[in-house]
Amino acid sequence: NKKKIVLGIETSCDDTSAAIVTSDRQILSEVVKSQQEMHEPMGGIVPTLASLGHSRHLPNVICETLDRANVSIADIDAIAVTRGPGLPPCLPVGLNAAKTLAAVNKKPLIGVHHMEAHALTARLTTPTSFPFMTLLISGGHTLLLTANGLGDYDQLGTTLDTAVGEAIDKVARALKLDWEGQSSPGPALERVASRGDPTRFQLPMPMLQRKKSVIAFSFSGLKTSVERLIQDQVKIEQDINDIAAAFQLTCIRHIEQKLRLALHQEMIMNKKPLTALVVSGGVASNKMFRSKLEQVAGSYDIPLVCPPPQLCTDNGVMIAWAGLERLEAGLLDEYTITTLPKWPI
Ligand code: KG4
Ligand code: ZN
Repeated sequence: NKKKIVLGIETSCDDTSAAIVTSDRQILSEVVKSQQEMHEPMGGIVPTLASLGHSRHLPNVICETLDRANVSIADIDAIAVTRGPGLPPCLPVGLNAAKTLAAVNKKPLIGVHHMEAHALTARLTTPTSFPFMTLLISGGHTLLLTANGLGDYDQLGTTLDTAVGEAIDKVARALKLDWEGQSSPGPALERVASRGDPTRFQLPMPMLQRKKSVIAFSFSGLKTSVERLIQDQVKIEQDINDIAAAFQLTCIRHIEQKLRLALHQEMIMNKKPLTALVVSGGVASNKMFRSKLEQVAGSYDIPLVCPPPQLCTDNGVMIAWAGLERLEAGLLDEYTITTLPKWPI
């Protein structure tokens, strides 16, 4: 059972990234070219601009990844790349590069599902056996799924509108918080919330009435209520702290409620022997979220597993690792595959 080496390429959103990972769990190199400065003034990601950025940077990102790992393309056992889901103009930049590299060098090609890669990342850092539950909470995703095995997932619930991180970012913007040099306003929101009284303002719990027993998330109504509250109530700094605290607590409670429904359904009703609760995504770095999730996992006697923050965001490492898992299972793709921007998991 020889050690395998995989190159992973990710261009599904705004970051151009590549990495080389080995089957004995070593990250030999990792390069991320962020486009944040380009999209921030536009108030969001512009897909065609993001695609141009990938076209411009991907060749150098791949070369640098190989150089830093001190391996040549001949040493690579397979090339893994995000096939979907993702932005339609962005995915082909990575996929076409990977296909050509693989075809010319006669290497196996592995088209990776971006969400499967997020879910499998935990297995790179903390050996976690199937089945396990995964909660993905980031700027782009709010997704709950059971990972039964490689390529075998049950999607239990997702957001009906905006992702939790997106709501956090919009509220932070409405509160005019200083990002303090961080790459997102999330940490600033956490900081002001820690100084606030979460009970001063009452916010509506999402999906409380009709859809109480449905496993799904919703943050846009909450976001709108908070934005209205900000317009009406913010006079002094304490108002900001109290609103942030109420908003953060409501987000956590909403996620907790749906997570408990999902754990009950899977572990009690379906009798699935889940081994862990894997939580990934930028929002998982919030201490209040984390301690609540730890508590929820504990009440079902399973550990909370969180990959380190740099592996929670979109990155080439998770694509390379998902590629390794698929390579070892013999799950390879043809050089003729095309992108799947709306690929269900
Ligand atoms: O996974 P991630 O870094 O990037 C993508 O979404 O791809 O997630 C970023 C999201 C942002 O919405 C950010 O505001 C949020 O995670 N976030 C936080 C915290 N740190 C990052 N939200 C709450 N508290 C934090 N400490
Ligand atoms: Zn992602």
